[in-house]
Amino acid sequence: MSIAIRQIHPVFVGEVSGIDISKPLSPDEVAAIDDGMLRYAVLVFHDQKLTDEQQIAFTLNFGTLEDARGGNITRPEDRRLQVGMNDVSNLGKNGRPLERDSRVQLFNLGNMLWHSDSSFRPIPAKYSLLSARVVNPIGGNTEYADMRAAYDALDESTKAQIEELICQHSLMYSRGSLGVLDYSDEEKAMFRPVRQRLVRTHPVTGRKSLYLSSHAGAIEGMPTPEARILLRDLTEHATQPAFVYVHRWRASDFVMWDNRRTMHRVRRYDQSHARDMRRTTLAGDAPTVAQQA
Ligand SMILES: [Fe+2]
Repeated sequence: MSIAIRQIHPVFVGEVSGIDISKPLSPDEVAAIDDGMLRYAVLVFHDQKLTDEQQIAFTLNFGTLEDARGGNITRPEDRRLQVGMNDVSNLGKNGRPLERDSRVQLFNLGNMLWHSDSSFRPIPAKYSLLSARVVNPIGGNTEYADMRAAYDALDESTKAQIEELICQHSLMYSRGSLGVLDYSDEEKAMFRPVRQRLVRTHPVTGRKSLYLSSHAGAIEGMPTPEARILLRDLTEHATQPAFVYVHRWRASDFVMWDNRRTMHRVRRYDQSHARDMRRTTLAGDAPTVAQQA
């Protein structure tokens, strides 16, 4: 059995076979996955039954874990999973679906908006890695958009117009667009906007991508409504079907993606049933505003 990657979408996404990621990897396997991420940006693995410890061990082959603090409103004592695991399920600590109107549930619905993980942090995430432990019976697909293909397809005048623009990203912008508008002073401080370039350059490939996310709510030097219309137009462009891969989850699927050149969103699903998805997240290396154009 040796590792192989087959492209399954016209512009990105590879499906990986011939590897058991619950076991320690050989250097060749790590290199093949690293290369695959650079080439395809999203890698799909099937039939990977993982414990949380195995998922963390696999993740650490590709970088260091992101510090998850400041990314949610769940209190530490209400966490279902250990530190290092991002709980992107619809479950409470008791293992049952969250109440429909619970604040955590309403906040988590923001994952159904197009976004790039941790774009609300000064140094946003590198890779996210998601393990499907329990799949919901209805809906819950994850969609991925290739932001490099989206950038490449822009006309030259738009590229010139947006090249130097700096956006402000905050969880309060994405959640605010869903009507979640009440935050404590502590949350307001935690979620204060951060600066991100609208066009970012991949640190390894040197290729440019649009860096969009529902967390983006303002552009420096531009009136807010004008900024939001531009962001909406660019998002509509970037998420047209030609640039989108739809992942239909099976139990024990595992998907990893590069947040530096993709966006993603979850589609609606039956909230009365469990959807147990567990994410690990790798830290990025530098603020996007520090990069050389
Ligand atoms: Fe996400």
